[in-house]
Amino acid sequence: MLIKTDNNGYIHPASSEITPRGIYQQRRDLIKLMATGAAGAALAGWAGRDAMAQAVARPGKLAALPGARSAVPGAVTMEKVTDYKDVASYNNFYEFGTDKSDPAKNAHTLVTKPWTVAIEGLVRQPKTYAIEDLIKLSAQEERIYRLRCVEGWSMVVPWVGYSLAELIKKVEPLGSANYVEFITQADPKTMPFVGSRVLDWPYVEALRMDEAMHPLTLLSFGMYGEVLPNQSGAPVRLVVPWKYGFKSGKSIVKIRFTDKEPRTAWNKAAANEYGFYSNVNPNVDHPRWSQASERRIGEDGLFSKKRKTLMFNGYEAQVGQLYAGMDLKKNY
Ligand code: MTE
Repeated sequence: MLIKTDNNGYIHPASSEITPRGIYQQRRDLIKLMATGAAGAALAGWAGRDAMAQAVARPGKLAALPGARSAVPGAVTMEKVTDYKDVASYNNFYEFGTDKSDPAKNAHTLVTKPWTVAIEGLVRQPKTYAIEDLIKLSAQEERIYRLRCVEGWSMVVPWVGYSLAELIKKVEPLGSANYVEFITQADPKTMPFVGSRVLDWPYVEALRMDEAMHPLTLLSFGMYGEVLPNQSGAPVRLVVPWKYGFKSGKSIVKIRFTDKEPRTAWNKAAANEYGFYSNVNPNVDHPRWSQASERRIGEDGLFSKKRKTLMFNGYEAQVGQLYAGMDLKKNY
């Protein structure tokens, strides 16, 4: 049972035990919003209509990929969705350049058809999926997630996809599979910066098995009701909302199940700066800057305030238990 004590030492049950989970999560989201000073806009929505029903307009640029609103606890934040134009023009995708504006300019050369994703390693059912079959493997859901980049900016994006767990269950990992590795496309012919010395290509990321199985871990094929634009990681990427954005590998071509912790791209590049876990944590600074606050993309006005960064990017209620007993300063 979850027990909390207040300043006077009284014991209270956690609100999760007396209130249905979806409702208490909405309340917690609202309380956190108030703490970050962003409550005004959210409250207006809260009072006038069901804030959870925030409509997302399709930009009408790419093929439609609709998803039903997700019922996974925590999967739909009430915060204002960032404009599509900001999300699709301010990117990290080093295969297309290191400037934030490079991927939108350069990623038109990425070839996303045909595309396959190979499932390898410690699984009973290794298989290479054509992207068309992978999309159909489970029902598409819309998830409105905060994404916090390690560099100190964040955005709110309506992704379309399904829980990675759906795929993992289909391929039947062996008992010895402790980690899942995501290997992304590295084709120097279509990705002009593959070969540059900034990273050891391909861009590789990985999760512990329980993190990969968590329902919030999303295998994403789209955003804003359409397929992903190339610069956002077409045709398939990961979104792990409680971790810094670099854990969410783009343009995935292989998913490998392993017994040992895989080496990952940024960890190889600078192990003292980028750990394996990389959970969003305002209490653990990056060696070169603080992680206590963040700037929301699209709110760059002269008077726009920085927001407080939340533990696990605000997903603590859902994922905190995964790290019970771990020293998060050591396992950064
Ligand atoms: N995936 C690949 N293949 N290459 C990259 O350079 N950058 C990561 C991550 N996935 C990256 C990647 C980083 S640092 C971030 S913050 C997110 O993608 C950014 O995703 P976005 O452009 O959709 O915001």
